[in-house]
Formats: sequence, C-alpha cells, structure tokens
Amino acid sequence: MSLQVRKITPAIGAEISGVDLAGPLSNAEASALHDALMAHQVIFFRDQRMSVEQHKALGRLFGDLLVHPAAKAEIEGHPEIRVVHADATSTSVTGEVWHSDLSCASEPPMGSILYLHETPEVGGDTAFANMYLAYETLSEPIKRLCEGLSAFHTSAHVFSQGAYARSDKIMPEAVHPIVRTHPVTGRKSLFVNRGFTTRIEGLAKHESGALLEMLLRHTETPEFQCRFRWQRHSVAFWDNRCALHRATFDYFPNVRHGHRVTIKGDRPV
Ligand code: SIN
Repeated sequence: MSLQVRKITPAIGAEISGVDLAGPLSNAEASALHDALMAHQVIFFRDQRMSVEQHKALGRLFGDLLVHPAAKAEIEGHPEIRVVHADATSTSVTGEVWHSDLSCASEPPMGSILYLHETPEVGGDTAFANMYLAYETLSEPIKRLCEGLSAFHTSAHVFSQGAYARSDKIMPEAVHPIVRTHPVTGRKSLFVNRGFTTRIEGLAKHESGALLEMLLRHTETPEFQCRFRWQRHSVAFWDNRCALHRATFDYFPNVRHGHRVTIKGDRPV
C-alpha cells in the first residue's frame, strides 16, 4: 500500500494519493482512509473513476447508505445516489449556506462522499470548516454555557424548494446538543450551522437569536477552513459530525455535475 496523505491547510483537509477508490479496497486501505478522515475531517482524491455501484460500495465500507428524505431519486434503481447538478438553467445550487448534511435528522449522517464528473474550468469550489477548532477556540465561560444547551434544527425552509421535489417528502426536525462528542475521536465539536439550526432551546427569543448568531459567525471563521478546488473526477469525503461545508455557485452558466452518497450516523451526544 503506497497511500500518501498531504494536509492542505493547517486547520482541515488532506489530499490522498496512491489509492484507487473504484476498489476493491483492502481492509488496510479502508482503515487508512478512515484514520485520515478522523485526523483531517475531510479527505480529497484526484483522478478517480467510479461507477455508481463502485461509489456506493465505497460508501458502504464506512456504514449504511442513507436515502434522502425529501429529494427525488434521479437514477433508476439507485435511490442512495444524490445527483449534484448545475447548468445554464440553474438559479441556485444545493448547499450554498454553511451546513452539516441533514443535521435536522434525529440521527444525522456521519459522512458524505461527493464525486464530480464534470466541473467548470474555474469556480465551483467547496469550502469546509473544522468544528473541533470552533469549539476549542471559544472562551471557557462560553464553552461552559454551550455545553448545557441544545439547539433546534429544521429543514422545512430548505426542503420546500424546487430541488427537493419528492411528492412524499419528509421534512425532518430535531433537537441536538450544541456541543457534541465525536463517537470515534472523543473530541468535542460545535454542532450548529446556518443551514438548519434556527433556535437555541430554553432561551428567550432575543437571547437565542443573539447567541446563535454569535456561534454561527464563529463557525464561519476563515482560519477554520479550507477550500477545495475541484477537477473532473475529484472526490471529497467529509465527516458531518465535526465539519461544516458550503458550495460556491460562482460558475453560472457552466456545468458542474456529479453524484453524492451519504452514510448514516448516530444521534449526537
Ligand atoms: C453539498 O452540500 O453536498 C454540495 C456540495 C457541493 O456541491 O460542493
């Protein structure tokens, strides 16, 4: 095995070479990828070629795959694949606001693997932010305050829009601790995001609004981030339990197209 791991910023993200994600991956390779994901929160790969089946098989090495509760299946026989697509008819794209995928679910996904087949010549980067750092850089009094609080995550404002066109769609909502402990690394991270988190439980409206806005701004600190510049056939695999991400829609009217699988996770504690 000649897998190489190269950090792309001090805060988050590593590019991995020397592995063919189309597989089959050995146990040692799968375990090395998992270790790299735990260490860097998001890992990137270049020049990969995966069929839909191989992409799903890669995801299943790390857990069961999730079928999105609101988006319609776009590939016959593969409801676990989410098509990520923008072209000259697009007015917006999925994920333009900082978020952790489906944090509104009672058991939000542990990870997501996005594989882009077609990319614009420039633009369409995805930004990622390290939520361990977000927690660790809070002052001690604010850490103590947040550790006793939970927040409400909802999806109605997101999934009522056009891209989520399933007729029987479900719009999950859930209350999660603001500070969660990662089930593998044991590290604490801040678990709020601008996409789905709308209030802090048990506070007056003005208190909730002010504290949540302060925390959301903190999660978006540039020093916690990396920005991945896609090429055709690049792959990004992120850990939703300790990283946020945000899509950049700056490439209109060009085409950006790919597939995502999402891996089931646990109830945050
Ligand atoms: C997403 O939120 O999964 C989309 C990310 C991207 O298209 O860059």
